[in-house]
Amino acid sequence: MCGIIGYSGPKEPLPILISGLSRLEYRGYDSAGVALIDGDNLSIEKKEGKLSVLKEHLEGTSIKGNIGIGHTRWATHGVPSDVNAHPHADNANEFAIIHNGIIENYAELKDDLIQDDYSFISETDTEVVAVELSRKWNGELLDTVLDVAKSLDGTYALVVTSTKQPGTIVAGRMMSPLVLGVGEGEVFLASDSAAILEYTNKMIFLENGDFVEINDGNFTLYDIEKNVITRDIQVIDWEVSEAEKAGHDHFMYKEILEQAEVIERTIAGRIEENSTEIPIHLDKAKKFEKIWIVACGTAYHAGLFGKDLFEKVLGVPVSVELASEFRYREPIVGENDLGIVISQSGETMDTIAATELLKENGAHVLALVNVVGSSLARMADSVFYLHVGPEIGVASTKAYLGMLVGQLLLAKHWDSDDKLAVAFDEISDLPKLIEQTMACEKQIKDISEKIYKKNDIYFIGRGLDYALAAEGALKLKEISYLHAEALAAGELKHGTLALIEDGTPVIVTASQNHLLDKTTSNVQEVIARGAYVIAIGDNQSKKLENISDEYVTLPDSNEILTTVISIIPLQFIAYHVANLNGESIDQPRNLAKSVTVE
Ligand code: G6P
Repeated sequence: MCGIIGYSGPKEPLPILISGLSRLEYRGYDSAGVALIDGDNLSIEKKEGKLSVLKEHLEGTSIKGNIGIGHTRWATHGVPSDVNAHPHADNANEFAIIHNGIIENYAELKDDLIQDDYSFISETDTEVVAVELSRKWNGELLDTVLDVAKSLDGTYALVVTSTKQPGTIVAGRMMSPLVLGVGEGEVFLASDSAAILEYTNKMIFLENGDFVEINDGNFTLYDIEKNVITRDIQVIDWEVSEAEKAGHDHFMYKEILEQAEVIERTIAGRIEENSTEIPIHLDKAKKFEKIWIVACGTAYHAGLFGKDLFEKVLGVPVSVELASEFRYREPIVGENDLGIVISQSGETMDTIAATELLKENGAHVLALVNVVGSSLARMADSVFYLHVGPEIGVASTKAYLGMLVGQLLLAKHWDSDDKLAVAFDEISDLPKLIEQTMACEKQIKDISEKIYKKNDIYFIGRGLDYALAAEGALKLKEISYLHAEALAAGELKHGTLALIEDGTPVIVTASQNHLLDKTTSNVQEVIARGAYVIAIGDNQSKKLENISDEYVTLPDSNEILTTVISIIPLQFIAYHVANLNGESIDQPRNLAKSVTVE
């Protein structure tokens, strides 16, 4: 949520800022801006709208500097506008600041500053920090930033520059992500490592309360009391090309297509018994009395899939929780419990807070995350990385699949009685199955032509298929803005059936053969009300195939792996429906990839 970029080094900053911002645009895209300092001259350029608007605006200017900072915004305080865009400056235009997070006490600070005759032009909390920096200026940028930081409540990744100390950037973090890229004689700052990967793969992930002072391509790390601290440099093995579109129109499309390849990586080295890549082995897993799966959005839907698996193989109750709810109730978490927190970014604020709650109550926390070195990865007791590479499209696809496969691999290693052996023995076939499933795209495109103008679309399924239906509906909502709703198929008749009328599309996933007859009966119920049925299943679902308007046939496999690959047609439906409607697929309105605020 909000993208941050900063540069100090021998190169001209502007092109680096713009390329970084273009890689960060998925984090927020309602406005963007840059600030460069050249001696005692501070230039700030910012524009409402996507980054392309700023780029066009900058074409007519020639702003230069020896350091620079840039930001792409997802509005929290104040509407998207030129004035509310970052960077923000103080009244004398001597400090420039960019910020990700929310300053909770900004209104009090603002009142106090107004009493002291300072004025404000934006509605943002960030401008308050810029003005406060000028009020508290004590002759040294680092000292001033530390002083101001002590008076801030809330969350931030802050990056500050000033003409009062040209050549210096000071940055710090509290809950919002901030990464330092360490190059040869140059230093980068970013809210996400993918933004600076083309320049360096050596990263330091700042921890809460860490600050950094950067001068001429060198840096020193401090805590808030100005004690010098050290942090390990991590080498990120993602390829730059993975964060690019590879000739496709959209990241989401590219990310759907590359799933066979990335799942190969998720699986690699993790199938063999006693694999060191599996963070918790059976002996320990057996001791857990309860499992809490906690996550948000797509990751929560992935957790619904894990529930059945873990209950089956470990024989302990599993509760799947929305992190945003879990953190505000009083769940009865015990010391012998396992918390599985799932997150692509590893930076989702609610999931982080839920992790703290689990840890405070003594549970062992295992994080399934994609972004190496992210906050959740660092907080958790054990980590399982998804290894699906950077995911840029806001609508998660390959990370979701990675989350399913990650849980499958854990369940395989915890399955002491071989309850799900059939499925697990075939995990290594998954990349091939995913590749074969891609062949459905042409048929899905044709189906999408028939439904893209509909206002309401329903997704139904039973058991693991319900978990999938929930994700299929979310995908469609996120990028096509159609009303899509997922239902456990057996629940239809308890209310929603009233909404089914002639031509209403109902998409049914039927991977669970043992539930096929029941699901087929539910399909009959919607057909009787005139629904247009699109069913997804394998060759064994002949009865369902015969009664459906459209039938997408999946390659043959066992029930569990069939569920996993069933998401691919649902991803294609969301993509093609949104594309036919001409929507902005990678950057859907009102949303952001990583939600680092409450
Ligand atoms: C945002 C994204 C979703 C994502 C959710 C959780 O809402 O738009 O796609 O599922 O956050 O993100 P996480 O990084 O924790 O998986």
